[in-house]
Amino acid sequence: MKSLDELHRLVGEKLQEEHFSGIPSTLYEPIAYIMSLGGKRLRPVLLLLAAQMYGRKPESVLDAAIGIEVFHNFTLMHDDIMDHAPMRRGRETVHTKWDVNTAILSGDTMMVLAYDLLLKTPTDHLTDVLGTFNQTAREVCEGQQYDMDFETSASVSIPEYMEMIRLKTSVLIAGALKMGAQIAGAPADEVELLYRFGEKIGLAFQLKDDLLDVFGDESRFGKKTGNDILTNKKTFLLISCLEAATPQDRGEIIRWMAKHDEPERKIQTITALFRKYSIDKLTDRAIEQLNSEGLEFLRQLHAGEAKLIPLHQMLESMKLRDL
Ligand code: IPE
Ligand code: IPE
Ligand code: MG
Ligand code: MG
Ligand code: MG
Repeated sequence: MKSLDELHRLVGEKLQEEHFSGIPSTLYEPIAYIMSLGGKRLRPVLLLLAAQMYGRKPESVLDAAIGIEVFHNFTLMHDDIMDHAPMRRGRETVHTKWDVNTAILSGDTMMVLAYDLLLKTPTDHLTDVLGTFNQTAREVCEGQQYDMDFETSASVSIPEYMEMIRLKTSVLIAGALKMGAQIAGAPADEVELLYRFGEKIGLAFQLKDDLLDVFGDESRFGKKTGNDILTNKKTFLLISCLEAATPQDRGEIIRWMAKHDEPERKIQTITALFRKYSIDKLTDRAIEQLNSEGLEFLRQLHAGEAKLIPLHQMLESMKLRDL
C-alpha cells in the first residue's frame, strides 16, 4: 500500500514526464502552461487511492489519473472565461494571458487528451469506466450551466444550490473514486459507496471553495478574493446571508448585486454583511456536517481499516486546506 504522500509524488512525477507539446504551439502552449501551474492534484490521487484499495498497483493506472487531471484543468480553463477570473493558482488565467478563443480551443483539445489518456489505461472494465467518465463530464456541464443561470436569478434556495454544486464539483471527485475502483474491478456495491462518499466530500469541498473565495488569503488561494461576489454567484455564503439578514440588510445586498461600478466597495460591503451574520462559522459547520455524512459511507466499505488509511488521510488534508 502506498501512502497519500507517495501517491502525490507518483502523480507529480508522471505530470513532469508529460510535456503536452504539439504543433501549432499556440494551441498546446496554454495546455502546458495550465498543467504546469500546480494545484492540489486531488482527483488523480483519489483515482489512484481507489484503484489501490481494490488491488491495482497505482503505477499501472497513472494514465487514467492524469487523464482526470487534464479533464479537470480543461474545466478550469473554460470556467475562468465564464467567471471572468483574472487569476488561477497565483498566475494569469489562460484567456487573460492569451485570449478567449485560445482558452476555448486549447480547452477543447484537453478534453480529447483526457480521452486518449483514459484509453491508454489497461483494464477489463473500459466500457464501465468510460460510461462513468461521460456521465461525469455531462453532469459537470449541467452544473456549470446552473451556476451561470443562477447569476441572474434572485431567489436560489440552498437545496437548489446543493444540487448545482453536486453537479459542477462533486461528481468529478466522486467520479475519480468510482473510476479508480472500476478500473480495478471492485464490486458494484463498493463502487457505489465510494461514489456516495465522494459526493458528500465534494459538496464540502465546494463550500470551502466558496468560503476561501471571500475569506481566503489571495496569495495562497491563488484566485482573486471576492470574485464570486463580483460575479453575483449564488454561493452558500450569499444564499445563507440573504436568508439570515434583516429586510434592510437584504435590500442592501440586492442593491449591490445590481451594481457593477465600485467593485472593491461591493466586495467590502457584502463581506462585512457575511461577518455580521457569522456566515463564515455557519459555512464551517455545514462543511463539518457534510464530511461526517461522507464518513458514514466509508464505514460501510468492506475494504478493511488498513486499506482505508490513505482515504482518511486525504479527508483530513481536505479539511485543513487553505488553498
Ligand atoms: C477548483 O478545484 C475548482 C473547484 C471545484 C472548486 P481545485 O480547488 O481542486 O483546484 P486545483 O486543481 O487545486 O487548483
Ligand atoms: C468550479 O467552480 C467548478 C468547475 C470548474 C467545474 P468555481 O468557479 O467556484 O471554481 P473556481 O473557484 O473558479 O476554481
Ligand atoms: Mg470559477
Ligand atoms: Mg465557476
Ligand atoms: Mg470558486
